[in-house]
Amino acid sequence: MTVFGTRPEVIKMGPVVAEIEKYPDILQSIIVSTGQHRQMLDQVLKIFNLRPHYDLDIMRSSQSLAQIVNRSLHGLETVIAREKPDLLLVQGDTSTVFAAALAAFYARVPVGHVEAGLRTGDRTRPFPEEINRRLAGVLADLHFAPTLRSVQNLMAEGYSRHNIFLTGNTVIDSLIEVTKREFDLADAGINLVPGKKTILVTVHRRESLGEPMRNICQAIKAVALKYSDSVQVVLPVHKNPAVRQVVREVLAGTGNISLIEPLDYEPFIHLMKASYLILTDSGGVQEEAPSLGKPVLVLREKTERPEAVEAGAVKLVGVSEYAIFQQTSDLLDNKDNYRAMIKPINPYGDGLASQRIVKVILRHFGFIDKKPEEFAVK
Ligand code: UD1
Ligand code: UDP
Repeated sequence: MTVFGTRPEVIKMGPVVAEIEKYPDILQSIIVSTGQHRQMLDQVLKIFNLRPHYDLDIMRSSQSLAQIVNRSLHGLETVIAREKPDLLLVQGDTSTVFAAALAAFYARVPVGHVEAGLRTGDRTRPFPEEINRRLAGVLADLHFAPTLRSVQNLMAEGYSRHNIFLTGNTVIDSLIEVTKREFDLADAGINLVPGKKTILVTVHRRESLGEPMRNICQAIKAVALKYSDSVQVVLPVHKNPAVRQVVREVLAGTGNISLIEPLDYEPFIHLMKASYLILTDSGGVQEEAPSLGKPVLVLREKTERPEAVEAGAVKLVGVSEYAIFQQTSDLLDNKDNYRAMIKPINPYGDGLASQRIVKVILRHFGFIDKKPEEFAVK
């Protein structure tokens, strides 16, 4: 049973489900959506051709964390009791992930945690994801760690090496699949002004809601005004009403800033490819952009994805208006500093993560007897 609830979970679990479904004689795939997201989830289900067997449809406007967990736990208890899965898979660090892992644990169903072991080491950043991911780790039997760093984090917390599998991140499996196909941005209603540099922005973190998000938006506005002749900013606005309110208040009406609806995955990736620079607080975008050779300024104080920062392709700039304005201006003005950040690197995966995860699952059920080292990331 695979469970997901939000946009990034579908993008990263989609290729795992597709791989599971390659073994219909020995694995039965049951797909459950909590529906923590609605429109943003449905958008990405299409591209992965996923049709959940169960949709708990829990989303409410401006839902609280306790409401997400409460409704998910309640719905999942019933679904798990009916289907009696032999293994339940979750992906990442959302409240759906924590609730599903807990529901499985209560029903004595083993849990596999995809994208295990990422840590900032700060309980409140990202909030509540750092704790969601740690709790999912405590509840999990199989830990699918994307990088060596995440393996080490889990080992440092005392998890047995035998239950940790270095797989790479499935986000790269999806990215490779989508970038294979040509895509015309105009078909998604995006008409970039030729000759202008495009800055792509996404923001949504709960710990930034309020003042930090206002600072981020003010910095973006200042950049847009300073470089009004040479830069265009495109910001697909997250559906969270608390995000929308600030973004609209500060940025609406600035000529070279386009506030657009969240994009389907395929146009979004192609917009990343067409961009000069990306400013984001997203986890997934931090992983995708380095593979596309696009510099990223991370609008957060801490990241659980230090690999690309250490490689020099991503910079952590925080949430102060001045720092964001300065760093963005620097990458627009200083060609050498910009070039130094263009390093097409793949610290997060090689496109084979889903295959590795499913091999571990086949081995877990006794269908293959290879040692995990034989199919781990080399
Ligand atoms: C959630 C995850 C976060 C992840 C993000 C991906 C938690 C606590 N947070 O944050 O880790 O990075 O998803 O985007 O699990 N809304 C809609 N339509 C949608 C989606 C959201 O209207 O399709 C609105 C609703 O009013 C909802 C609000 O956005 O109440 C917040 O959604 P929620 O899932 O609670 O949190 P996110 O900020 O999206
Ligand atoms: N994404 C998308 N459309 C958008 C913005 C982002 O498809 O308009 C994709 C992006 O490519 C990445 C994922 O959504 O794979 C990231 O989701 P988000 O930033 O909402 O969540 P996070 O990764 O921070 O949990």
